[in-house]
Amino acid sequence: MENYIENLNWRYATKKFDAEKSLSQEDVEKLQKSIQLSASSYGLQPYKVFVISDKETKEKLKAAAWNQSQLTDASHVFVFAGLKKLNEAYIDAYLENISKIREVQVQDLSGLKDMLTSNILGKTEEQQSVWAQKQAYIALGNLLSAAAHLKIDTCPMEGFDAQKFDEILGISGTNLSTAVIATAGYRSEADQLQHAKKVRKQEEELFHLI
Ligand SMILES: Cc1cc2nc3c(=O)[nH]c(=O)nc-3n(C[C@H](O)[C@H](O)[C@H](O)COP(=O)(O)O)c2cc1C
Repeated sequence: MENYIENLNWRYATKKFDAEKSLSQEDVEKLQKSIQLSASSYGLQPYKVFVISDKETKEKLKAAAWNQSQLTDASHVFVFAGLKKLNEAYIDAYLENISKIREVQVQDLSGLKDMLTSNILGKTEEQQSVWAQKQAYIALGNLLSAAAHLKIDTCPMEGFDAQKFDEILGISGTNLSTAVIATAGYRSEADQLQHAKKVRKQEEELFHLI
């Protein structure tokens, strides 16, 4: 646990990455695993994650992200795209997956199906989309912590034009839309922010102990 907290202190939203350094494939796979293992409401994982190392694509994304240099200097860009809405087929596919992995009959999951149908499909499209994006943010948090554990630098980012990102990634007009992104790689020695003290609320202000 001490190490975990140390690593969280070590991490910071990296402003300047070392463009010469790339993540190993093994580390990229570990980061992907941390996303795959994220908790999500009911386990529905209502998002897709684009993992981008292609230089040309990163250039295009940078132009749609206020020209923030992290987009091109970082080794990889993770784009979390939330589902805009869910439907019965999506829920059925989820139940099929449970049935296959846990070796239970789909018919035995009818109670769960009823609950998911009423709780998720009972939301408006707007509510479903917001809910899906919230789930994506949980996966983002996992990615940041896992990266810190691996001593990989990241920058979570909301400073981008989601519509343009959707166009660049070819998901405009589909059931996905970009929610949040994170760049990952290695900090540049020139990034002064790595030496800045962490600014956080005092525990007394943040926590209410009941
Ligand atoms: C959802 C989210 C969006 C953010 N967007 C940006 C961004 O677009 N550009 C940027 O440089 N930093 C961005 N940040 C980084 C925050 O400014 C940073 O996490 C915060 O100041 C706390 O500092 P620390 O993470 O270095 O400890 C974002 C952070 C989060 C969690």
